[in-house]
Amino acid sequence: METNKLLNLVKKHGSPLFIIDHDIIRENYQRFKKALPGVQAYYAVKANSELEIIKTLFDEGSSFDVASYNEFMDVYNLIDRWREKKKEFFIWDKIVFSNTIKDRETLRRINKYEPLVTYDNMDELIKIKENCKKAGLILRLKVPDTGSQVEMASKFGAEPGDALSLIKKSFDFGLKVEGLSFHVGSQCTNFENYVSALDITSEIFNEARKRGYELDIIDVGGGFPVPYDFNGPRFEKLADILNKEFKRHFSEDTEIIAEPGRFFVATSSILVSEIIGKARRDRKIFYHINDGVYHTFSGVVYDHWIPNFYSFKRGKKEICAVVGQTCDSFDKISLAEHLPKNLGIGDYLYTKNIGAYSTASSTKFNGFEGAKILHVNN
Ligand SMILES: Cc1ncc(COP(=O)(O)O)c(C=O)c1O
Repeated sequence: METNKLLNLVKKHGSPLFIIDHDIIRENYQRFKKALPGVQAYYAVKANSELEIIKTLFDEGSSFDVASYNEFMDVYNLIDRWREKKKEFFIWDKIVFSNTIKDRETLRRINKYEPLVTYDNMDELIKIKENCKKAGLILRLKVPDTGSQVEMASKFGAEPGDALSLIKKSFDFGLKVEGLSFHVGSQCTNFENYVSALDITSEIFNEARKRGYELDIIDVGGGFPVPYDFNGPRFEKLADILNKEFKRHFSEDTEIIAEPGRFFVATSSILVSEIIGKARRDRKIFYHINDGVYHTFSGVVYDHWIPNFYSFKRGKKEICAVVGQTCDSFDKISLAEHLPKNLGIGDYLYTKNIGAYSTASSTKFNGFEGAKILHVNN
């Protein structure tokens, strides 16, 4: 979006202003489908759970990966009025509960929908058997996540060596394992992770089939990288690798699905913040803005994200710090920005590519509400 448009919007709506452009979400969805035509895309709602985003992707034909009952209901509300049979089919075909650990109450509530759910350990399997007998299961495997911005392997995934016994146990319990999944870590620019994950997964998948277990889904998770900086490898290069690996490892009747989160929404949003204080501290200028790491910049903490700041003004640049509005000294967004020297209180800054894992994990710390969210082109 051009800078004069951004300024007009912020003058009209106030700051901080979080602008979500739905044309970009549609473009990202179509780009994914074009590069990976055989893959059913389940949008990982956790990346940005704004209802308008869910609706836009729903209209595009997306499926959904939900982490909780509330996220499930956010999708369900779009189909609530449909005929019962059509609704059942949608839930069965287009929703996956990808959180490997679900509380018992959630499992009891979703049982009637015969949901697709993931698991990665024996205790979860017993819990599913006792509370969600109608579920279809996906076993999540631990795979390498080397170099990914957010690592996953230390918290999720069954050891590959345990996989066949976890599959057998599920069938012994009368539960059906439908497939295998993995997540190579979020913002994965090391494509070797996907190659290794598919090596590991295909070996287990093909061995399970040989033993008579009719698995048919491979879920390649999320991790699809966004061009935060210009040096990163392109998504299309990854898609080429994936398409070749799918052909190499799996027969035609295998259903390949994915759970992209960041890829659909990160580039859709811009935040405009305002400088509300300026101070020289230890020979460096600190700009205090009306947002911060407890709010829209929460991704700096939870997503290990390095944001960028741009000014609407031009001028000779200097190194400065940009910090948040709260009383907490932890609330520092960046200690090394290059911004024009002549900025002052009331000037605006903007940050691009902030659509994923930002407002989704924003708090109301110190009594600050967080940015106003503005949807455009929806
Ligand atoms: C199980 C699962 N699937 C998908 C995603 C989305 O990942 P990404 O945003 O990297 O595409 C996540 C992110 O945490 C996840 O935990």
